[in-house]
Amino acid sequence: MTAERAWWKEAVVYQIYPQSFNDSDGDGVGDLQGIIERLDYVADLGVDVIWLNPVYQSPQVDNGYDISDYRAIHEAYGTMADWEELLDEIHARDMRLVMDLVVNHTSDDHEWFQRSRRDEDGYRDYYIWREGDTDEDGEPVPPNNWTTGFGGSAWTDDEQVGTQYLHLFHERQPDLNWENAEVRSDIYEMIDWWLAKGIDGFRMDVINLISKPEGLPDGDPDKGWVGIEHFADGPRAQEFLEEMAAETFDNYDSMTVGECVDIDVDTAGDYVSADGPLDMVFHFEHMLLDQQEGWWTIEDWSLPELKSVMAEWQTDLDGWNTVYLGNHDQPRIVSRFGDDGEYREESAKLLATFLLTHQGTPFLFQGDEIGMTNCPWESIDEMRDADATNRVRLALESGDIEDYDEAREVVEFRSRDNARTPMQWNDSRNAGFTDGDPWIQVNPNYEDVNVAAAEAAEDSILSYYRDLIDLRSDLDVLVYGEYELLLPDHETVYAYRRTLDDPAVDVDDVLIVLNISPTATRVSVPVEAEATPLFGNELDTATESGSHDVTDAALQPYEARLYELSEQQ
Ligand code: NOJ
Repeated sequence: MTAERAWWKEAVVYQIYPQSFNDSDGDGVGDLQGIIERLDYVADLGVDVIWLNPVYQSPQVDNGYDISDYRAIHEAYGTMADWEELLDEIHARDMRLVMDLVVNHTSDDHEWFQRSRRDEDGYRDYYIWREGDTDEDGEPVPPNNWTTGFGGSAWTDDEQVGTQYLHLFHERQPDLNWENAEVRSDIYEMIDWWLAKGIDGFRMDVINLISKPEGLPDGDPDKGWVGIEHFADGPRAQEFLEEMAAETFDNYDSMTVGECVDIDVDTAGDYVSADGPLDMVFHFEHMLLDQQEGWWTIEDWSLPELKSVMAEWQTDLDGWNTVYLGNHDQPRIVSRFGDDGEYREESAKLLATFLLTHQGTPFLFQGDEIGMTNCPWESIDEMRDADATNRVRLALESGDIEDYDEAREVVEFRSRDNARTPMQWNDSRNAGFTDGDPWIQVNPNYEDVNVAAAEAAEDSILSYYRDLIDLRSDLDVLVYGEYELLLPDHETVYAYRRTLDDPAVDVDDVLIVLNISPTATRVSVPVEAEATPLFGNELDTATESGSHDVTDAALQPYEARLYELSEQQ
């Protein structure tokens, strides 16, 4: 069965982290005019949609995911007029704009929270306040054992109010009370306000956490995020999202992608099936493969496990997939799934192939198209990430670690700052990102890894991305084709086939073979068909023209190949 067509299914999305993209005014922080300056570059990539991380007014405790005014632009990024210009310029280049929607929580600076604190005009009930007990020293005891996504108790005692409020993230990000119909209608009004301004959709932050069960029961203390079984996909999450869609998105030709924590493929289907409230979700199952024992471990991920997660979503989801390997919350993809040393170029191209040839809408993160890597951090003082720094603080306080050196390896790998170092435009000071002092350190490899160098080189990662995005937009089979996993147990080769039952297309059968390893290998791919090379990062050296024997294919380290399959002569 071929999925119904939609523009957002055919789109390739490029994620811009505004703080780190391009600084136009020398204050060290990226901004909207900076993005406008670089829009031609983004358009030249061939992408269709820009997803912009939060640009709303915010004290920036969690880099904009702590919003103090949903209808204003953060001062360091510019003004509403700059934002309107950005929207126009994006549309003028035939691209679309998707904004970040953060409505599980606000900043504690938000007027709603200020009024809630003061118990003004019915606002107390906009957030989740609970009386806790006190211990023998008179200190408040949290009302339940839930923890935050950044570690530590999810409750903070508010001295002014004398009770505690729930925050599933930083203590300055209080959770909104979605049980309150006025909260919901204020949020829907705000969503509608942005849609009416002409945006093309929303990426919805931790959207499956909005419904908390009555009584806020204790969670299983052995879970990495205590309480998650209660607040992920809570009792009314589906109902709230259906209500939201009916009041807002359903009236526009927009796209929605909901970030869903701890979600499996069946539950995701409830949100994204044909009559579900969302178009797509981001799940985390492949992001957790190297941290199955929690944030503080770096485990070796195995390719068969990655394949099995991918294949399950590719084949079992009742709805449309997203395809991503990294974003502003994750390590750099080439450092995590590829090789950021000797095979940086090859593995970055292989990962591009992975992203652009699965079934689902690909989400590319800024800088991956030039193979940006994790950053060598001099010290924890260089880090800005509220998550990593909070976890280190808690571990030091609890005595789990004696000093930072004990945490260094994990923190340097996992810190979200790895994805947030400035975009590397050229080899001038600060990688051409800013004339001032950057808010976060620039990766020292910018002298080699930068856009200008990629533009000047032949066969760069950048040109590979451009060509492959082009190919994807030409080949319906890469968008709408069915997915079939081959060689599920192979330790280093990931092979899959995409087929489209549509007599109108020229290419309806494609084989993708990825050698995700630093070792050359020979592999026999079980397809009975003529295989003609279509695209790849080693084609010149590894194949002759014409058809190719994939039953005995020699693959170079991190080699990626696409073949067109046709009936054997
Ligand atoms: C997910 C966002 O991607 C992340 O950056 C943020 O810290 C949390 N949600 C809380 O909003």
